[in-house]
Amino acid sequence: MEGQSKKIHSSLRTVEWKDNKVIMIDQTKLPNELVFVKYSDYNQVAEAIRTLVVRGAPAIGVSGAFGLALAALQSTASSKEELLKDMEKARTILFETRPTAVNLKWGLEKIMEVAGHGSDIDQIKESVVTTAKKMAEDDVKNNMIMGKNGSVLFDNNDTIMTHCNAGALATVAYGTALGVIRATKESGKNIKVIVTETRPVQQGSRLTAFELKHDGIDVSLIPDTAGGYAMAKGLVDKVIVGADRILRKGHVFNKIGTYQVATMAKKHGIPFYVAAPLSSFDMKNNPEDVVIEQRKASEVTGIGDRKTAPDGINVINPAFDLTPPELISGIITEKGIAKPPFEESIKKLFQ
Ligand code: MRU
Repeated sequence: MEGQSKKIHSSLRTVEWKDNKVIMIDQTKLPNELVFVKYSDYNQVAEAIRTLVVRGAPAIGVSGAFGLALAALQSTASSKEELLKDMEKARTILFETRPTAVNLKWGLEKIMEVAGHGSDIDQIKESVVTTAKKMAEDDVKNNMIMGKNGSVLFDNNDTIMTHCNAGALATVAYGTALGVIRATKESGKNIKVIVTETRPVQQGSRLTAFELKHDGIDVSLIPDTAGGYAMAKGLVDKVIVGADRILRKGHVFNKIGTYQVATMAKKHGIPFYVAAPLSSFDMKNNPEDVVIEQRKASEVTGIGDRKTAPDGINVINPAFDLTPPELISGIITEKGIAKPPFEESIKKLFQ
C-alpha cells in the first residue's frame, strides 16, 4: 500500500485508474472512515480482492482488469511472448483470489484477449490500460441504463428490501440493485429502503446503509433474522438484490442469505428482483460446477475484535448461496428485463 488519504466524496467512486496507479476505497474501513488506497503492483490488487478491500462482483471484475494492466506495466519483458507470459502469471494470481463472482474471469479474459492481439510491447501496454479504463466507464454507464430499465418495476411509496451491498461500492459507481433504487428515486418516486445487516461481514450495515445515507435515501437497518418479521408485517413491497453469477436457466449465486430472503418473499407474495450486468452471466456452467467460496471461521466466531463463540468451535462459513429461478420475479440488466421462463428470456438478452 502506498499513500493513504481521507476525504469525503459527494459521489462514491469505488475503483479508479489514475497516473498508472489503481485507487480504491478501502471498504474494510467503512463505515467509520472513508480511506483511499493506491496500488502500483498487481500483487497488491490481488491482496485487496482477497481481503475485501474491494468486493462486489462488478468491482472485482474491473479491479482484476486494472490489476492485469498494472502487471503489463510492471513487466520488464523484451518481447511480446515474454510480456504475455508475465501477464499470464499475474492472471492466475488475480484469478485465484475469489472463486464465485464470474466477473473476475470476465475482466481478466478481456484484458488477455486484447494483449494477445497486440503488435508489440508498447502497443500492448497502452491498449490494456485503455481497455481496462473503458471497462470501468462502461460499468458506470451500464449501471445507469440498468437502473432506468429497472425503475419501471417500482411504484411511488414502495418500501424496497435489499440484502448485502450491490451499490456504488460493489461496482465502479452507481450500483446494480442500488442503481435501480437510485434511478427509481431520480424518476421522482418516493421510496424507502430496508437493508439486512448481512452477517458475517456486514456489507448491509457497513456499506449499503453507509452509501444510501450518504446519498440521502431513506434507509432502515434490520438484523438478518428480522427479514421474515418485516415481510409478515407488510413492511416490504418488493425485494431487489445483486448477483455474483447468473446461470443460463436463471440460477442466481449471491451473498449468503439471499436464498432465505427470496424464500420468505415467495411465501409472502412479494416480488423478488435481481439486478446484474451481462458480465455477471455464466452461460456455460451448471449449478453444481460453481465453487462457493468458504471463508475463515473468525468472521463467524466474533464481531469486530469481540469474540462471540467458544474457542475451537467448528464453523461453516459459505460466502454465497444459490437462489433457484422459481423464486425470482425478474432479472434486470442493461439490455432489458428477463422474466420467467428464464432460459428463453436470458438467451434473448445476448442476441
Ligand atoms: O463478498 P462480497 O461482498 O464480494 O459479496 C457481494 C455480493 O454478494 C453482491 O451482492 C454481488 O457481488 C452483487 S454486487 C453488484
